[in-house]
Amino acid sequence: MRTQVVIIGSGPSGLLLGQLLTDAGIDNIILERVTKDYVLSRIRAGVLEEGMAAMLDEAGAGERMHREGLKHDGFSIAFDGGCHRIDLHGLTGGKRVIVYGQTEVTHDLMDRREATGGVTIYEAANVQPHDFDGDRPYVTYEKDGVTHRIDCDFIAGCDGFHGVSRKSVPEGAITTYERVYPFGWLGIISDVEPVSHELIYANHPRGFALCSMRSPTRIRYYVQVGLDEKIEDWSDDRFWDEIRRRLPEEQAQAMKTGPSIEKSIAPLRSFVAEPLRFGRLFLAGDAGHIVPPTGAKGLNLAASDIRYLFDGLREYYQEKSKAGIDAYSQRALARVWKAERFSWWMTKTLHLFPDDGAFGQKIQHAELEYLFSSVAAQTSLAENYVGLPY
Ligand code: FAD
Ligand code: DHB
Repeated sequence: MRTQVVIIGSGPSGLLLGQLLTDAGIDNIILERVTKDYVLSRIRAGVLEEGMAAMLDEAGAGERMHREGLKHDGFSIAFDGGCHRIDLHGLTGGKRVIVYGQTEVTHDLMDRREATGGVTIYEAANVQPHDFDGDRPYVTYEKDGVTHRIDCDFIAGCDGFHGVSRKSVPEGAITTYERVYPFGWLGIISDVEPVSHELIYANHPRGFALCSMRSPTRIRYYVQVGLDEKIEDWSDDRFWDEIRRRLPEEQAQAMKTGPSIEKSIAPLRSFVAEPLRFGRLFLAGDAGHIVPPTGAKGLNLAASDIRYLFDGLREYYQEKSKAGIDAYSQRALARVWKAERFSWWMTKTLHLFPDDGAFGQKIQHAELEYLFSSVAAQTSLAENYVGLPY
């Protein structure tokens, strides 16, 4: 078998790249390790920057997002009994974010791929990229006990943090930068009305909390928990009690509760691999970098990587120019590091870091009080939250 681009992974980055390539007449095949239903069952991000929304439109997959997504013009930070609004719209000259779940984004991209005849091979086992340091790369995989080979021009590693693409690169060719945080997020989904029509991020002596949503009738709430916490120890009642304790009185009183329909703990990590290109293999999205979720940048970074990678591949095929693919790693990493900085700052400013002691806590509180008193500081936060330009 032969194609122009083999894409490993059918998460948001692989699906977005695949659709843009298909629409540009560039042949591609997506290889996905698990089933379609499994990919769609994963509950992850929920906030889209306008740049990502524009890319979904470009891929012909934005219609439902515009219809069902919730436009948010601001969010609040709860601290010391009060709630301080960050006016995203006012501070950024009219920008906003869209609350629309990653599951829905994935669903819409999969539907569009099917409608336009794109090929995805699900349950492709033991996917392996080969010879990407030369001119004739290929990818092998196993399906139903048979080994297959796809020859191609390029391989796009869109297979997430635990994927095979980054691991296939010789150790000496890659540098990684990492910070693991000493806590995780326990998140639940429940079909109740959100406590507020905008998101609330809370800094509290008991730890961070976030009240987000997926729709006007479905909440996505999180609390910071220790790394040793076990999901079995968190009944719904315990979760609701804990999140109420971390919110100001008014929100705690107003909070509607109900049975959870999903509950999980995710660790927090910052990670960057450099470079993002190795000959004819490119890394994009979580395969190349991870941010802690505070600030909702993970999914949006996958989209900006694909912007640069798709533009480079399109130039290669349509204009016979290598300039875009040669610049890919550097262009993507420049934006990645700014989002890494922002996500690290949001995490550091809003969570309880027990090892930082009293001095660390005083500095954190001064940081928040400065933020609430300074339009300049709020503008910087808002500019990063709505997404830096591509
Ligand atoms: P992924 O979505 O990870 O997709 C990679 C795909 O590759 C998967 O379908 C996987 O099955 C497939 N794959 C892996 N290995 C192989 C292989 N060997 N062969 C073939 N296929 C393979 N971001 C936020 O902004 N806000 C959040 O609240 C948030 N919550 C998150 C919670 C969790 C538990 C996780 C893991 C991430 C979360 N993120 C969040 C980050 C965000 O979801 C990711 O940044 C986003 O999914 C990246 O998309 P991707 O397509 O690059 O990778
Ligand atoms: C969500 C996750 C985030 O990390 C965030 O900053 C905002 C919202 C969410 O899952 O809805």
